[in-house]
Amino acid sequence: MDRIRIVGGAQLNGSIPISGAKNAALPLMIASLLTPETVVLENVPRLSDVRLLMRILGNHGVDASIDGKRVGQDEDHGETIRFTAKTIVDTTAPYELVSRMRASFWVIAPLLARMGEAKVSLPGGCAIGTRPVDLLLMALEALGADVQIDAGYAVVRAPTGGLRGGRIDFPKVTVGGTHTALMAAVLANGTTVIDNAAREPEVVDLANCLIAMGAKIDGAGTSRIVVEGVTSLGGCRHPVLPDRIETGTYAMAVAMTGGDVLLQNTRADLLQAGLDVLARTGAEVTSESGGIRIRRNGGGIAPVDVTTEPFPGFPTDLQAQFMALMTRADGVSHIRETIFENRFMHVSELARLGAHIRLDGDLAIVEGAPVLKGAPVMATDLRASVSLVIAALAAEGETMVHRVYHLDRGFEALEKKLVRCGAQVERISG
Ligand code: UD1
Repeated sequence: MDRIRIVGGAQLNGSIPISGAKNAALPLMIASLLTPETVVLENVPRLSDVRLLMRILGNHGVDASIDGKRVGQDEDHGETIRFTAKTIVDTTAPYELVSRMRASFWVIAPLLARMGEAKVSLPGGCAIGTRPVDLLLMALEALGADVQIDAGYAVVRAPTGGLRGGRIDFPKVTVGGTHTALMAAVLANGTTVIDNAAREPEVVDLANCLIAMGAKIDGAGTSRIVVEGVTSLGGCRHPVLPDRIETGTYAMAVAMTGGDVLLQNTRADLLQAGLDVLARTGAEVTSESGGIRIRRNGGGIAPVDVTTEPFPGFPTDLQAQFMALMTRADGVSHIRETIFENRFMHVSELARLGAHIRLDGDLAIVEGAPVLKGAPVMATDLRASVSLVIAALAAEGETMVHRVYHLDRGFEALEKKLVRCGAQVERISG
């Protein structure tokens, strides 16, 4: 298994191209199941989750082909991938695949909408909590689907005549629930109103792509989305939104090590809450044409309290990285995690680098220390892993990060992007 070796202490200076968002690419790829025509996605990040989803979609009959340059050749630009689901050959998504990537459960919505039935394995547990799918199934039921749980599978059937528009009122903001509701409602008969919808930029990106395919959707990006069902959808060409979590991750890395980095191909409005917090820690954040510049030259890191919230609040997917930054702050900070109940797996690993963090329920109390020291650490989930990388960049000496396959799921060319800014990072294979 690959490891990443980091020798900390170097400032980061230069520029980093931000990739397309993993969390936008996955639902966009899944949406290609809704039409027999070709959906061309541009700026798709080179990630193992994208490759795995291509395989999963292939089982349902989606033909996926990568345009142009060879894989991995040009990390400044994502890939263009064409997805064509001319015929759906299988409406079942098996456990072996869904258990490897939770988001693949979302195929349930387009399969149901287009084929009238789907059988999709329940995803099971994951490293950051129980993560149920009850609200996703509730949304499908609200559109008339019959939902049964059988031998670990969700088996859903549309009523005769297909799904019908309905009212979906989510008791809790859910990104996956909103994606599912959108993909089911676009082909339903009549109007669907989704209340308490997730407002995440990735939801807006999916809605924009569906609109380009011929769907009628109003209000994406607000908490009420109205969908007027259409009888069929066509192909389209759509660029994947920049990755706000990757943007925030590198911004925090620079805030931690010091330096001056231009994050290219990204936008401040995608993560304003995160950037505001960074500015309060003492980093200088400026929007420039084509990107965001982040600087910290001298000066300490001020402690800032943060609570994770659905968009437009501070994202849970940046919580671990922010905690890494706070381990070096000049004082105590409080970080409250309100989205996932078990998302503090990075705490014990950060402690191996010398961080002082106390947990009290959903609250982490971080006492900043002047020095972190390199150590062997283990990646546990995607965002937790990258928090260890950030901490290691600012630690004295060498850190070896094990189980880096977690990083490969969600961060394209991580070590190359850091090395081009002066970091000492290398991947050791095998
Ligand atoms: C997506 C993101 C993930 C991010 C999360 C929250 C992708 C591929 N993943 O995950 O990176 O951390 O949004 O921003 O886009 N819930 C239920 N029942 C359900 C569904 C969700 O109780 O049926 C709960 C979850 O346990 C959690 C909360 O709702 O407490 C939010 O989860 P959700 O927004 O659905 O997260 P995902 O879509 O899985």
